[in-house]
Amino acid sequence: MKILILHGPNLNLLGAREPEIYGSMTLDAINEKLIALGKELGAEVTCLQSNHEGALIDALHDARTWADGVVFNPGGYTHTSVALRDAISAIQIPVIEVHLSNVYAREEFRHVSMISAVCAGKVTGFGWRSYTLGLQALAEILTGG
Ligand code: DQA
Repeated sequence: MKILILHGPNLNLLGAREPEIYGSMTLDAINEKLIALGKELGAEVTCLQSNHEGALIDALHDARTWADGVVFNPGGYTHTSVALRDAISAIQIPVIEVHLSNVYAREEFRHVSMISAVCAGKVTGFGWRSYTLGLQALAEILTGG
C-alpha cells in the first residue's frame, strides 16, 4: 500500500505559524510520525509540501500513477480552488481531506470547502492528529477494513 501525504501552502511554517491555532509541532515532525504510523499499518508513506497550486495539482496527477490514496491538507486553497477539486475528481483514488484546526469554529470563509464533496472523507480540528486519523482511515478503506 502506497500513500501520499500532501501539504499545501504555508504548512512548511508549522511550529512557528500561529501555534495557538496550528500547534507547535513542525511539518518534519508530523511527517516522521506519519511515516512511522504507515510502517505499523503496512503502508509506504511519501510526504510532499508545496506553496503552489499547480505543483499540488501535478502531485495529485502523479499520485494516480503510483499511490493507492492521498491524505491532503490543501491549506487556504481548500476554500478557493476549483482546479484542485477537479484534480481530485480526475485521479480516481481515494483522497482524505485533513485540517489541523477546526475550520467550522473559525471565520465563515473557512466553512466552505471546494474539495469535500469529491473526497472520501474529512478530518478537521484534531491538530497533528487529524493527519494520523486520516491516514488510519485511508489505510482501512484501502484494505477493506
Ligand atoms: C488549514 C485550515 C485553512 O483554513 C488554512 O488556510 C490553513 C490550514 C488547517 O490545517 O487547519 O492553511 O487547512
